[in-house]
Amino acid sequence: MLSTPMKLHDAPVFGFSNTTDASVRALERESGANHYERLEVVARTAKGSWITDVNGTTYLDCLAAYSAANLGHHHPKVVNAIMRALVGNYASVISNVVYTDPLALFLSKMDEFVPQLGPRFGKIGNKVMPKNGGVESVETAIKMARYYGWKKKNIPDGKQEIIVFDNNFHGRMITVISFSSQSKYRDGFGPLTPGFVSVEFGNLDAVKAAINENTCGILAEPMQGEGGMQIPPAGFLKGLRKIADEHDLLLLLDEIQVGLGRTGKNFCFQHDDIVPDGLILGKALSGGLIPLSVFITNAKLMDMAFQVGSDGSTFGGYPLACVAGVAALDVLQEEQLAKSAEIQGEKLKQNIMRIAVRSKDIKEVRGKGLFIGIEVKNGDAMRFCRKLLDLGIIVNDSHGHTIRISPPLNISDPEIEFLVECLEKVFLE
Ligand SMILES: Cc1ncc(COP(=O)(O)O)c(C=O)c1O
Repeated sequence: MLSTPMKLHDAPVFGFSNTTDASVRALERESGANHYERLEVVARTAKGSWITDVNGTTYLDCLAAYSAANLGHHHPKVVNAIMRALVGNYASVISNVVYTDPLALFLSKMDEFVPQLGPRFGKIGNKVMPKNGGVESVETAIKMARYYGWKKKNIPDGKQEIIVFDNNFHGRMITVISFSSQSKYRDGFGPLTPGFVSVEFGNLDAVKAAINENTCGILAEPMQGEGGMQIPPAGFLKGLRKIADEHDLLLLLDEIQVGLGRTGKNFCFQHDDIVPDGLILGKALSGGLIPLSVFITNAKLMDMAFQVGSDGSTFGGYPLACVAGVAALDVLQEEQLAKSAEIQGEKLKQNIMRIAVRSKDIKEVRGKGLFIGIEVKNGDAMRFCRKLLDLGIIVNDSHGHTIRISPPLNISDPEIEFLVECLEKVFLE
């Protein structure tokens, strides 16, 4: 309940108010749970790479909602698809108890877009399980690996183990926080889910040493977004693939943040020329307008793990999300956004490295495509993010010590120049 009454409902458009930005912040603080550390911006509209606040100030969005806005905000093709579905009355959730053509189209498009996963189980195509938020699809992947361990490797049910990596981030539900390295995600939320062994990211020997008779899978982010924009040594994924094959483990990759073009390839695993057994995608999958995530795997594995009724979700794969998903996949391919991330990312990284050489505050610059981290020496990346905000750039930190630079994949040359100018002001003046 609000302690001071506020007039909210005489707004010209639903969802807008004519309160001040201070009142919007107060309303959120009063009625909302704590979740993210906030930048002091009350955003109103977003278009392409730009966010406009309630006072008309514009900001270059170099966070892109942790990759959810890879296509830029309100991409016209995705907006058009959504509008047509709404106006044409084929958008609402009807329940997966009936078939809908948006879901059929989305599933087949996904199946075409993703290479054959788990080819050792047969080159028979993939199957897709649609969900909403990313963490739901991570859990679907974990369920499948456990089921595989039980059914195919004769591991007693309840004893299955999955190898994960230190500083991982797979979301915030009970199962995935159970193996988080960060106590702020875990402490006080027990009992935690057993069955995970965490080893050093990038260390193949540590993976081998963690395998025992109950191990059924390996779950990894190919590059760690929340873990400080970490890129593992070259060949890490190839090594994981080899270990998984030798020990009959399922290799599951969480590309929720780094997939769909972000690192300069449609999928991050393509940098190492491997394919996983299972792939998790989310965020940008619907063009950043509707929650949509998927777990995709070899058709044989999906059919082994999930029978009718054993998994699913009310909104997972509902028509509006699927319509947006089809349009977003079209845009990603037609506009060659992975290529754009590769080219624009290289330009941006070169400029940032040039700044880093002359700056006393930058410890390291690392990145692939438009997934770039600037690690700062004092460990307080948010201090620099706030300075950038004052200049008109929205970014946030990753793991406290690193500024995450992940703009929309179609960021233009002038926009990159503006970002570089702002970075120069913050780090060199
Ligand atoms: C790699 C990775 N996995 C999973 C998640 C969780 O996704 P969601 O917040 O949509 O549940 C995220 C979110 O940032 C992520 O970056």
